[in-house]
Amino acid sequence: MAALHTLWMALVLLGALGGLQTRAEVQVSVQPHFQQDKGPGQLGGGRSPQFLGRWFTLGLASNSSWFREKKAALYMCKSVVAPAADGGLNLTNTFLRKDQCETRTLLLRPAGPPGSYSYTSPHWGSRHDVWVVDTDYDEYALLCTSGTKGLGQDVHMASLYSRTQSPRAEVKEKFTAFARAQGFTEDAIVFLPRNGMGLLV
Ligand SMILES: *[C@@H]1O[C@H](CO)[C@@H](O)[C@H](O)[C@H]1NC(C)=O
Ligand SMILES: *[C@@H]1O[C@H](CO)[C@@H](O)[C@H](O)[C@H]1NC(C)=O
Repeated sequence: MAALHTLWMALVLLGALGGLQTRAEVQVSVQPHFQQDKGPGQLGGGRSPQFLGRWFTLGLASNSSWFREKKAALYMCKSVVAPAADGGLNLTNTFLRKDQCETRTLLLRPAGPPGSYSYTSPHWGSRHDVWVVDTDYDEYALLCTSGTKGLGQDVHMASLYSRTQSPRAEVKEKFTAFARAQGFTEDAIVFLPRNGMGLLV
């Protein structure tokens, strides 16, 4: 009986460790009491924060080779977050590419505690996990993405979302500290310059 119990414990531990390893080698947490949308109980009266709405992606840090090559040519992008039918998010990014405005939609499925999502990249066919690690809803949000891209390479990304195109210096410092804590070196952390064309709407 004792032996069986030990075996069972060993399996549980193995399972738990295996789970941790596949989920992420990256240490991330999710914004406590994450508010995706206002919710029915909060209409009328008081401040009701929500993650939905318009953001600008102002900062990126990534260890993908694509990012290393392209980071100098990237511009700020507009990200509109709308609710999706499955309780997840419809994330529409508008960005500038070869002097043209392009729009891409990502459907983020709910995955675990509120503020955790996953999506399958239409381009690479790979699965990505996304966490809203920290947000005050009104000014900034810090997100983490991890997944496999291309030749089975694990990539890890940190993003800064801002409600305005010119955030306060404190917000930028917060992102730099966040990205450093995720293990990114200075040269992998980029603040994206503004280019009016992609952001007129
Ligand atoms: C996501 O949002 C875009 C832009 O509003 C819309 O065109 C698209 O149909 C939406 N997709 C889904 C599956 O909701
Ligand atoms: C990117 O960082 C993650 C997390 O630290 C690591 O597991 C992965 O191997 C890194 N990938 C590359 C291409 O350096």
